Order: sequence, then C-alpha cells, then structure tokens
Amino acid sequence: MKVLVTGGAGYIGSHTCKALSRAGYLPVAYDNLLRGHAWAVKWGPLERGDVRDRARLGDAFRQYKPAAVLHLADLGMGRGFSVRDVIAAAERVTGRKVPFSISPRRRGDPAALVGDATRAGEELGWRPEVTDLDEIIRTAWVWHERERQLAPVEAPNHSERKTQVD
Ligand SMILES: NC(=O)c1ccc[n+]([C@@H]2O[C@H](COP(=O)([O-])OP(=O)(O)OC[C@H]3O[C@@H](n4cnc5c(N)ncnc54)[C@H](O)[C@@H]3O)[C@@H](O)[C@H]2O)c1
Repeated sequence: MKVLVTGGAGYIGSHTCKALSRAGYLPVAYDNLLRGHAWAVKWGPLERGDVRDRARLGDAFRQYKPAAVLHLADLGMGRGFSVRDVIAAAERVTGRKVPFSISPRRRGDPAALVGDATRAGEELGWRPEVTDLDEIIRTAWVWHERERQLAPVEAPNHSERKTQVD
C-alpha cells in the first residue's frame, strides 16, 4: 500500500518514510527539496514538487494512487520567534551560553517568515500542543540529552558528526 508523504525528504518526513517502509508500506516522498535532501529519500520514490502546485500534485496522485497522505511540509503555528528569542530561550533552558556572531543581512533574507496554520485549524481542527518556546526547547533538549547518553560509542570528532538517516 502506498502512502504519499509531503515533506518526505525532510527531517520528520524521512524518518516517517523509514517507519512506513518497515511497517510494509511504500512511502512516496513528495517534496520540493527547498530544505530537504534527495539522499534522505531511501525507502521509496521521490517526487519533486510543491504542495501548492495542484497540477503536479494531481500527477503524483494519478501515478501512485496513494491510500493515505501524511502532510509534513509547511505547517507553522502562526506565531514567529526571532533568532535572538531562540538563542535566549536555549540559554535559559540549557543553562549554557550559545556562541553566536552578528553579521550583515544576506541579500534576499526576508525580515520575517511565519507559517500560518489557520486553515489547518479550520479544516482539520489541528492545534499545536506546545506553543511555549522554552517548553519546545526543553523537550528537544531532553531528547538530545537522552540520545547522547544512549550513544554506544562517542564519535572521535564530535564536530564532524552529521545528522544521518539510515
Ligand atoms: N523537527 C521537529 O522537531 C518538529 C517537531 C514538531 C513538529 N514538527 C513539524 O513537522 C513538520 C516537518 O518538520 P521537519 O523538522 O521535518 O522540517 P524540514 O524542514 O526538515 O522538512 C520539511 C520538508 O518539507 C519540504 N517542503 C517545504 N515546503 C514545501 C512545499 N511547499 N512543497 C513541498 N515540499 C515542501 C522541505 O523541502 C522539507 O524537506 C513541520 O510542519 C514542523 O512544524 C517538527
């Protein structure tokens, strides 16, 4: 059975594809690769396309006839945080200084980008469970700390470790 995974080349999407494959499904990753990576798509085909491109999406539906869709691209919670907000929260939660430097704005950088989840709320009844930045970072920190403690052997050069999906 095929499952179309939008954002399937991204962080959550690629791990979802792996889990789907292990559960006996064929995941079809549908992704514009704006932020995802083709190399992270290993458990089924990659269809490069944008979720806003109806014609392209229609082609993918006709070709694969998926039994279900998991939508993992493009959803925010309607409220943005600045980079400084995130750094300050990370320092509060972890009790560590976050090294950073301030550079000139890069050409093309938007002043702000905030994902609007209004429609997901209206049509799907979707609401983010955790909206507090400190709480978001706290749960991620707990997860990373647990992963670090579970790691059987520390990589020789910590700075060279890369996020890997396999
Ligand atoms: N990473 C987390 O810890 C986390 C936690 C909770 C919720 N989420 C939610 O899960 C979703 C995925 O998060 P992620 O961390 O995997 O992000 P990500 O950026 O790694 O993945 C998103 C993927 O969607 C693709 N994409 C973006 N816009 C697209 C478009 N218009 N058409 C097609 N593809 C598009 C990107 O190329 C990318 O591969 C988001 O909605 C995010 O808010 C993530």
